[in-house]
Amino acid sequence: MGSKIITFVLGGREVEVMVKPMTTLQAVLRYQLGYTAVKEGCRQGGCGSCTVLVEGEPMMSCLLPVEDVAGMHVTTLEAITPADGLDRVQQAFLEHGAFQCGYCTPGMIVVSKALLGHNPRPTRQEIVDAFAGNICRCTGYEPIIAAVEGAARASASKAAQPG
Ligand code: FES
Ligand code: FES
Repeated sequence: MGSKIITFVLGGREVEVMVKPMTTLQAVLRYQLGYTAVKEGCRQGGCGSCTVLVEGEPMMSCLLPVEDVAGMHVTTLEAITPADGLDRVQQAFLEHGAFQCGYCTPGMIVVSKALLGHNPRPTRQEIVDAFAGNICRCTGYEPIIAAVEGAARASASKAAQPG
């Protein structure tokens, strides 16, 4: 079968790509568009390093044919990172030492953003459950969980400050 043109919204900007059938969203983002925060780990849905948001929900981009996101909003870590610093979740990962090699980190932060977007004060168990599909091979999960708890606390205290 021949190539097709697929259009979707990436980080708020419409993009158009020409792909062969069954090309994954991961391959398009990382290799065609240069969004290298989208990592390539297992390519089988088993590690979560390729996680992106599709319509605000975490999805493993290695399992997703890019045709399936036609017309949808896709967000990677690149769009989450402010131009002039760090997002509050990124800051919390830094403060809690929640990464070593950093390979899992973009996926972890994307999942954290989705979790906190839906549930600003998650319990520890809800954080653990959110990371069920994300593997970290070197940091251990405690600093990552602590970072998400820290980001939630930081947001709550900011919200409580008088305007
Ligand atoms: S590379 Fe997609 S889940 Fe591992
Ligand atoms: S920081 Fe190395 S895999 Fe998580």
